[in-house]
Amino acid sequence: MRRGRAFRISEVGYHFRLRTLKTLDRVLSKAGLGSRTEARKWIGAGRVRVNGKVIQTPDHWVDPQRDEVTLDGKAVQAAERVYLLLYKPKGYLTTYKDPEGRPSVYALIEDLGRHVVPVGRLDLDTSGLLILTNDTLFAERVMNPECKVPKTYLVKAAGVLGEEQMERLRNGVELKDGPTRPAVVTRLRDRGSSTFLEITITEGRNRQVRRMLEAVGSKVRKLVRTAIGPVRIGKLEIGRWRELEQAEVNALAGEDWFKRAADDRPRVRKRPPGGQRERKRLRG
Ligand code: URA
Repeated sequence: MRRGRAFRISEVGYHFRLRTLKTLDRVLSKAGLGSRTEARKWIGAGRVRVNGKVIQTPDHWVDPQRDEVTLDGKAVQAAERVYLLLYKPKGYLTTYKDPEGRPSVYALIEDLGRHVVPVGRLDLDTSGLLILTNDTLFAERVMNPECKVPKTYLVKAAGVLGEEQMERLRNGVELKDGPTRPAVVTRLRDRGSSTFLEITITEGRNRQVRRMLEAVGSKVRKLVRTAIGPVRIGKLEIGRWRELEQAEVNALAGEDWFKRAADDRPRVRKRPPGGQRERKRLRG
């Protein structure tokens, strides 16, 4: 039977309901030892014991509060949580491995020596802010569409967009997987045959910004994510990473996004956040 209980992560200050029981592969990956795929291999190889008994079923339910899990005889400890902010360059995948051998963001954080997962994805051709963490509860919450965490992008769009197109982006456009939620869209400037705009959305659907622009008859020429909730890319150099400040983790995790569920439009300042200089640098 699956049970629920209120769970508090005091250091990031948020409440969330989750199940007490977890599958064995998840317990191992949550402990920061490796990916779930790796964990499944270790389990299959008989290297993992639960309460002293070898378990070879990755979907075996475990109560992390009560059951003792060991890998190669060593107790599995909950890993210290780590939260990174990476400035993903264009041309890098957010997946761990690629059959075509294209570069992955993991090559940029090799020196970390810890297993982390991206909080949401960015397309190969999108650059900008990517959060990576071993705190899967935090990641799930930030990615959960119900939490409506705002994500902000700088867009260079093909053509000079008219006000009617801008309004459609703001109000929601029809995509093949349903209408988009209201968005905050600000025209930054028109240059030549391009429009520079800033768009804040509260969903994270596949290629969403690109598809929204296509739906209004334009095309994305350049896409940079500049913020997730209150966390901004700031002065970080492209391809570099830094750890999130505790205050940033608190701000992101502590925002009561659920309470805002009634209000669909993302809450952002009227004037796009970040100074003119920051936006200019990101526009390139
Ligand atoms: N929207 C997109 O179209 N691509 C991304 O990478 C992120 C948001």
